[in-house]
Amino acid sequence: MDGIAPYDPTTQYTSEPAIKEIGPEGHDIPLWKPVNMSRRAFLRGVVCSGTVIAGSAFLFSTATKARADERAVERMIRLTVNGRTHTVDVAPNETLAHTIRYRLGLTGTKIGCNHTECGACTVMAEGTTIYSCSTLTHRVRDKEITTVEGIAAPDGTLHPVQQAFIEELAPQCGFCTPGQVVSAVALLQKNPKPTVDEARLAMSGNLCRCGAYDHYLRGVMKAAERV
Ligand code: FES
Ligand code: FES
Repeated sequence: MDGIAPYDPTTQYTSEPAIKEIGPEGHDIPLWKPVNMSRRAFLRGVVCSGTVIAGSAFLFSTATKARADERAVERMIRLTVNGRTHTVDVAPNETLAHTIRYRLGLTGTKIGCNHTECGACTVMAEGTTIYSCSTLTHRVRDKEITTVEGIAAPDGTLHPVQQAFIEELAPQCGFCTPGQVVSAVALLQKNPKPTVDEARLAMSGNLCRCGAYDHYLRGVMKAAERV
């Protein structure tokens, strides 16, 4: 190892700016350097911009507080989930997934990505599938919400979709299954005899990290023969 110094990446940096501008005389002008500006004028600009920023922060904070006060009165809302109406305290920025799981205790609805990408949080609002992780509860306060807990019959008899998923061994880890069930039921309510392509499209918003897509698809088609 004699004679070889350890690699030091900091020695690769130069004192030159990464981006330059060519001045009229043909010399490089670093972009961050105020051109034709005295030190006094530069400092005056800094002070003035600081005043503007501080002033706008005050204005925005006042407006935000006023809006928060206005919305605070709306927190107690009535929410109908699986045929039962609840009076529930919901924050203005609260998602439906949060309300369902942590206020109503319906933990069948899962939160995977929490970002409108995986479909684990799928529920129905008036028969239409929505991602509850990205839906504000206040937006659906007047709608009938159905979660996976509301799919089976009141006596516990499984929905044909649930039964078919079991028979087709669709659930592997099971994390995506509630969302898959809700999407499949919503499809069959609107289109009881879908083609395979229609079923695949309807289920395309539900990701399965176990890769059991064919199992779920076969389950949907089997359930379609029974509804
Ligand atoms: S948790 Fe809602 S889409 Fe993934
Ligand atoms: S069964 Fe595991 S994520 Fe779908």
